[in-house]
Amino acid sequence: MRIRLFATPEQLAGALAREVARCLADHPRLVLGLPTGHTPVPLYGQLAALYAQGRIDFSRATTFNLDEFVGLAPDDPRSYHAFMRRHLFSRVNLAPRRTHVLNGAARNLARECERYERAIARAGGIDLQILGVGANGHIGFNEPAAALHARTHKTSLQPATRRANAFLFDDRVAAVPRQALSMGMETILHARRVVLIATGRHKAACVQRMIRGMVTPQLPASFLQLHRHAEVWLDRAAASRL
Ligand code: GLP
Repeated sequence: MRIRLFATPEQLAGALAREVARCLADHPRLVLGLPTGHTPVPLYGQLAALYAQGRIDFSRATTFNLDEFVGLAPDDPRSYHAFMRRHLFSRVNLAPRRTHVLNGAARNLARECERYERAIARAGGIDLQILGVGANGHIGFNEPAAALHARTHKTSLQPATRRANAFLFDDRVAAVPRQALSMGMETILHARRVVLIATGRHKAACVQRMIRGMVTPQLPASFLQLHRHAEVWLDRAAASRL
């Protein structure tokens, strides 16, 4: 894994936004995998700023988000659909038909997961997958477990993950859905290049285990050690235990 260190979360976000702009300039039809959570918010702000300055063009790009809550319709303001609209989709020139987010309110969730896998394959696979990481080591909603799912699937959320997502539900943990749809480990690891971003001291222990520890389903992010082109971009606080 290649590790890149930045003094602050803002510097990390600025550098990654410029890197995305560079990738898009080289490959306008880039297929991007995108995360939600607090960590990518500064990145989405920087991407919007580059767009406002005419320095990035998403017009031919395609995006696939990692995950979505079960039971929330795309127009629900607490959904990851809404999060993405708020932070990125409404602020840049992505074509709506090429932004993909799992539908957590689909009548047949198994079919929705299969549809998503097919859509990724039809797009030619993911070129650049940007990832956050949960403090418990989850990526997407692949939670620590005795065994992991390869493909897009329905999963149950751990209490810590529901607490971490309560900010989308007026800080009411009880309102956070217990289940979600998520890309699987293979879906994520098949991306040609992966950039995991982590900021803040609360991620330092997880980052240390992810980079220095064993590859284990008890820390799904550790599987990135097996990827040929995985990068971990950290601020100083997240790197403080390395
Ligand atoms: C959620 C998302 C993950 C994300 C994680 C970390 O659980 N499903 O994809 O990586 O949050 O969130 P944060 O960036 O807020 O720490």
